[in-house]
Amino acid sequence: MTITNTPEYQLSVPQHLAISALLQECFPQYPSGRTHFRQLPQFRILATAEDGTLIGHIAVEHRMVNNAGQLLRVFGLADVCVSPDYRDKGLGANLLDYSTTLAQNTGIDALLLIAHEPEFYLKNDFLAVENECKWLFVQGDQTLGVLNRHIKGLMVKMLNGEPWRAGQLDLLGHIF
Ligand SMILES: CC(C)(COP(=O)(O)OP(=O)(O)OC[C@H]1O[C@@H](n2cnc3c(N)ncnc32)[C@H](O)[C@@H]1OP(=O)(O)O)[C@@H](O)C(=O)NCCC(=O)NCCS
Repeated sequence: MTITNTPEYQLSVPQHLAISALLQECFPQYPSGRTHFRQLPQFRILATAEDGTLIGHIAVEHRMVNNAGQLLRVFGLADVCVSPDYRDKGLGANLLDYSTTLAQNTGIDALLLIAHEPEFYLKNDFLAVENECKWLFVQGDQTLGVLNRHIKGLMVKMLNGEPWRAGQLDLLGHIF
């Protein structure tokens, strides 16, 4: 098994097809035939089995966010998934470790994500945080405005030694 990262614009058509199939398998409600929900990520972290099969995926948004006046350079993680046949063997944790190391080596302040079920991330050193959030509301391939709301399942891993702040989190764009 190997884990690599690839810029979005360099993904081949077969890679897009494999990502789309994995997303459909892991998130049955995912829009069919697509590899993004609202907007393209900057890059993907991909886990591949020895035979070349795609078995794990994270979409990564490289973004500035404003955490109560503290500007943070973040990796926003989305669509974290592992193929059902390969679960509970540590691959999900390996993908998060890979993201963390990549972020630490490139001056990223924090990892950020929104989880419906936080347990997996809590086990991997993410902190559940409660912030009022502001973000660009994109839905159905249209920009519909700006939302100000609490986001359930917001999780963070600070990497720069600074504390995460209570208060407003301005995502400075759409939600991950
Ligand atoms: C979540 C996911 C990526 C974990 O991948 P994985 O390779 O099985 O992860 P690991 O083997 O590193 O860790 C598995 C551990 O996480 C726990 N875990 C995974 N999903 C969980 C969930 N939804 N609720 C509670 N615990 C969960 C497992 O029980 C296991 O715990 P243990 O180590 O104490 O035995 C994988 O289950 C998956 O793709 N799920 C479907 C997509 C999804 O829900 N993604 C998260 C979106 S927020």
